[in-house]
Amino acid sequence: MTEIVAKLYDTGSLSDEELKRLIETDDKAAAELLKKYADETRRKYYGTKVFLRGLIEISSYCRNDCIYCGIRRSNKDADRYRLSREDIFACCENGYELGFRTFVMQGGEDMYFSDEIIIPIISEIREKYPDCAITLSLGERSYESYKRMKEAGADRYLLRHEAASEELYRKLHPAEMSLKNRKECLFALRELGYQVGAGFMVGAPYQTTDHIIADLRFLQELRPQMIGIGPFVPHHSTPFADEKGGTLELTLRLLGILRLMFPKVLLPATTALGTIAPNGRELGLMTGCNVVMPNLSPVRVRKKYDLYDNKICTGEEAAECRGCLQRRIESAGYTVANERGDYINDNPI
Ligand code: 5AD
Ligand code: FES
Repeated sequence: MTEIVAKLYDTGSLSDEELKRLIETDDKAAAELLKKYADETRRKYYGTKVFLRGLIEISSYCRNDCIYCGIRRSNKDADRYRLSREDIFACCENGYELGFRTFVMQGGEDMYFSDEIIIPIISEIREKYPDCAITLSLGERSYESYKRMKEAGADRYLLRHEAASEELYRKLHPAEMSLKNRKECLFALRELGYQVGAGFMVGAPYQTTDHIIADLRFLQELRPQMIGIGPFVPHHSTPFADEKGGTLELTLRLLGILRLMFPKVLLPATTALGTIAPNGRELGLMTGCNVVMPNLSPVRVRKKYDLYDNKICTGEEAAECRGCLQRRIESAGYTVANERGDYINDNPI
């Protein structure tokens, strides 16, 4: 099995059969070697740097009904909120003081945040913080909307594809959602010049190794600058309440594989990974991750951005998360980089 890891390290690619064996093996030596090579690769391009992204969760309203998600429209128990522009600017101010040079505005697909509302907010952040990157994660919107938001100053966009297999996508989403549209959004964002992040959940209900391989192949086709993966974690008020969650082992395995397939990619150690294991994010960092996304949202709304059960960091102030993460990053042997942390692009798309 270690020869498959060596081949992935040397060539950045594997056949479907090899990927399947590597994803499914319980060979400890292969897992160790994968971790070693993933860390070597991240150090080659990014040294020990870990980039911080200040996450501002702007709304928990959502028009969508993804079966796995705690803020899905059908969850009548969800306590909804949306931040005002003043709230959002206050988060940025706080984040800037804490050294963040990327702000991520993330939310459910809340129709309140129309172009008329969001564009002046983006422009104002752009004007106030010329040295910061603005990342959006607001779901599926029109090409025109993506274009206007880019022109207003947004730099990056996170939109997980969730499942590249039509069959799995259907099982995780209601009939009115479409994988085709999701993919079109991602290609549009890339064409518009955004740095794009795609990704999927690990261990989602019904997910097989073949589905995961389809995700990896889709990522090879899209070539995103960022890839977000984290374990599926059940939420008690969704139809998947009683399903099993994704495991630490499989998530780490895939993080290592992603680092070797996409050597320069920006790869976050996600909050979901930190939720299923106390040292999950540190282990992620040691397996190729180079990004963490501390929460900047006002503490009064944190528990309401409730995508899955037991989410960490919901009681802490931004400064506490910042300090906590700095300690964690350093304890894992890495350093906090107070910079934008753009994709290193010597091979423009
Ligand atoms: N478990 C883990 N991740 C989830 N997400 C949504 N619901 C869950 C869940 N129950 C992820 C989705 C989405 C991102 C913002 O959070 O992949 O794209
Ligand atoms: Fe938020 Fe540790 S990162 S409390």
